[in-house]
Amino acid sequence: MRPWPGVLQAFADRLPVSDRTPPLSLREGNTPLVPSVSVARDLPDAELYFKWEGANPTGSFKDRGMVVAVAKALEAGAQAVVCASTGNTAASAAAYAARAGLRCLVVLPEGAVAEGKLAQARVHGALVASVACSFDAALRLVREASERLSLALVNSLNPYRLEGQKTAAFEIVDQLGGPPDVVVLPVGNAGNITAYWRGFCEALPAHRRPQMWGVQAEGAAPLVLGRPVERPQTVASAIRIGRPASWEGAIRAVSESGGRIFAVSDDEILHAQARLAQEEGLFVEPASAASVAGLLRLAREGVRVRGTVVAVLTGHGLKDPSSADRTPFPIRVDPTVEALAALLQITPAEGG
Ligand code: F0G
Repeated sequence: MRPWPGVLQAFADRLPVSDRTPPLSLREGNTPLVPSVSVARDLPDAELYFKWEGANPTGSFKDRGMVVAVAKALEAGAQAVVCASTGNTAASAAAYAARAGLRCLVVLPEGAVAEGKLAQARVHGALVASVACSFDAALRLVREASERLSLALVNSLNPYRLEGQKTAAFEIVDQLGGPPDVVVLPVGNAGNITAYWRGFCEALPAHRRPQMWGVQAEGAAPLVLGRPVERPQTVASAIRIGRPASWEGAIRAVSESGGRIFAVSDDEILHAQARLAQEEGLFVEPASAASVAGLLRLAREGVRVRGTVVAVLTGHGLKDPSSADRTPFPIRVDPTVEALAALLQITPAEGG
């Protein structure tokens, strides 16, 4: 078996790259499609899989698009890249910029980025700017800064980002040996749902494309409400976004595919996150659990979810270790077998 080369090389014929594009790679992509063992029981008419994007090098789907955006920035002679981020884009930009030898400036909404993501941006050597405003305002700021300071913008407004992210759709079709019926994913700035739909449109004839189901958090659901949200609120900080940059792309993906866009509560998100961790063995960050929370909501409402369903798990739970605060703390015991047996409520065998 040949080693996986990463997104740029694996999909060279379907990406806007040439011989002049530097062969940047952290071996991103090729993430597992994991069959569900527990959540699937709530969806008896469906065959449910998780596309585990937390398995990417920096722990989120952003790496697929970032490798293309940073390689193209290098090709164009850029010295530095810039992004605004709720955290994952920043972590990915910092890692790929480090690999490419570019400077990286990330602009983060103050106090609104999960600890692991912030650590990633810092250790990879990015300049980390914290601003006292929302993600949406930070994005406006970096758009202007990228123009006036001649920095390469690597938010999903950069067309190469979505080009890279569409490769997840190609992988799903390959891994299943055919198209799924439904793909469900969390929606924040709306780049990813736009990119998946582009991928499916390129890979499949119209009658074989899956429905795209987008899930937002109730307190940050501009696409569901049909208007921007000035002060988005949700425990899922990655998708705490009130004015999605790819608004039209998301609406087109949902309407052209005959899909749906709807919102779930923070409680539903946290419940889905706990269930994925405790019953599927998959630790995802809260935003990523929104896709599964959406499926569970529909199942509870009696909606029959049919066919092959892929829920995209966009980011690793280790990025947001505060998620664990809601679970039991370690129990202090004496270092004896008897103490451990008492904890397990079993009787130890004699001797030893
Ligand atoms: N899931 C995770 C883990 C994310 O980090 C994001 C977005 C999304 C879902 C939503 O994807 O924006 O394409 O609709 N994170 C961005 C960031 C905004 O800055 O890291 P989207």
